[in-house]
Amino acid sequence: MSKRLQIIAPILFVFASNSLIADEDSRQLVELPEMMQKHMMSNMRDHLVAINEILVNMANDRLDYASEIAESRLGMSSLESHGASHMAKFMPEGMRQAGTSMHRTASRFALKAQEGEVLPAYNALSEITSACVLCHSNYRIR
Ligand code: HEC
Repeated sequence: MSKRLQIIAPILFVFASNSLIADEDSRQLVELPEMMQKHMMSNMRDHLVAINEILVNMANDRLDYASEIAESRLGMSSLESHGASHMAKFMPEGMRQAGTSMHRTASRFALKAQEGEVLPAYNALSEITSACVLCHSNYRIR
């Protein structure tokens, strides 16, 4: 999965930036019940906060904190608190996969960061953000 994402993500990124330049929105609209929309957007805002906290900790040589944040807020351990199983049934397959790959890459980052080597950790971090971009390039909920 990780290798595949490494190959696919940059390609999709180029596609996404092309469509931004053309000012067209080709993302697929996924209709969610209103409560889920709210829940998902609040999760999203926390995802961004988590990424930022990870970066701040990495910049301060606190890879152990970065690891904890990634696992608990984005990784496989966060699935339940995000209500992932409820949301998954409203999502098209591709969106579900992007979600799963975010959780997986976050858990993988958590392990890498624990090993204490900065560069491989950054590499693993970019796989998380590639999963964010992959989903954002393809789907919208409003
Ligand atoms: C499974 C798909 C998916 C993944 C993975 C994903 N997002 Fe999102 N995110 C969305 C969708 C869909 C929206 C709403 C876009 C819209 O409808 O305009 C969104 C919106 C957001 C918003 C805007 C929230 C608001 O209140 O306006 C932020 C910030 C965000 N995402 C951050 C992230 C970050 C950071 C990651 C990765 C760690 C991430 N997302 C991963 C699908 C995803």
